[in-house]
Amino acid sequence: MKAPVRVAVTGAAGQIGYSLLFRIASGDMLGPDQPVVLQLLEVPPAMDAVQGVMMELEDCAFPLVAGMSASDQAEEAFKDADYILLVGAKPRGPGMERKDLLEANAAIFSAQGKAINDVASRNVRVLAVGNPANTNAMIAQRNAPDLDPRCFTAMTRLDHNRALAQLGNKTSSHVTDIKRMTIWGNHSATQYPDISHATVAGTPAADQVDQSWLEESFIPTVQQRGAAIIKARGQSSAASAASAAIDHMRDWTLGTPADDWVSMAIPSDGSYGISEGIIYSFPVRCVDGRYEIVQGLDVDDFSRERMNATEQELVEERDAVKHLLP
Ligand code: NAI
Repeated sequence: MKAPVRVAVTGAAGQIGYSLLFRIASGDMLGPDQPVVLQLLEVPPAMDAVQGVMMELEDCAFPLVAGMSASDQAEEAFKDADYILLVGAKPRGPGMERKDLLEANAAIFSAQGKAINDVASRNVRVLAVGNPANTNAMIAQRNAPDLDPRCFTAMTRLDHNRALAQLGNKTSSHVTDIKRMTIWGNHSATQYPDISHATVAGTPAADQVDQSWLEESFIPTVQQRGAAIIKARGQSSAASAASAAIDHMRDWTLGTPADDWVSMAIPSDGSYGISEGIIYSFPVRCVDGRYEIVQGLDVDDFSRERMNATEQELVEERDAVKHLLP
């Protein structure tokens, strides 16, 4: 058995937290031989609820849980953390504009970025799930100048998995037959789910579907899937979001298969002409605990237009919180 690692989760008493923590504790994220110490962060009014979640975690008697604590202080919850899942965020309230939401979350993610900078492991892997996830990750990263910017990522894996499911349904194939799916850009309705490099059972996906399905069904369905789930369930996606967070962290840590890749929102290094420094979703391969952008993919005019539109939205989000960035 390996030495335990520290996993911090914010928003631990929320919907996603309730699904996520039990998957981490059972070994789905880091493997069946990796003990974990769970360090939970919540806001003061949710401390009773988080105690209840810890009681349930205890009652599962998970062999891999080597310790557990909860706090309403980020410096305590992030202390020596090797993995941090930033799930807690301020939801959009009635009458709140997108700009208000960006600012409210900028305050949370600035403070949490500073705490990560001060107390987390120097090799921490951070995943922002709380929305607006990409810009929240950028704000946390900018407030952590002592850490490698590459420690900070945001989640587009749920969008990636949704795209696999839609293409699988359309081609009557299983998701495991589909390789090289890509989500470009922002975790929002401007994201671009791209099948132009994907294969289904080894043959190009683009040859198996027509352009009208792609434009009129596939892309909008993936972009709007979150809203469709809220409409059907009355609450936003939670178990599928938690499952995607598990997939993101597992693949980052343990690697992606050689013939495939995954989508992760990461600090742009200018690849594919995308503005440096924004947290943009790219196709990535992970080896030895590091991610690398898949280079050299052909980008046609159809893709370029969509990649630029979602980049533009992220640039606008960055500009809206510019006055709050260090
Ligand atoms: P929720 O409202 O059920 O839970 C959020 C929890 O975060 C609450 O318990 C709240 O007390 C806590 N919280 C708020 N501010 C906090 C802070 N400063 N520090 C620590 N905890 C804090 O929400 P749910 O459904 O769990 O979703 C969480 C976030 O994930 C939302 O922002 C949601 O929009 C986002 N999300 C992102 C997805 C993605 O694909 N990136 C997919 C689905 C949801």
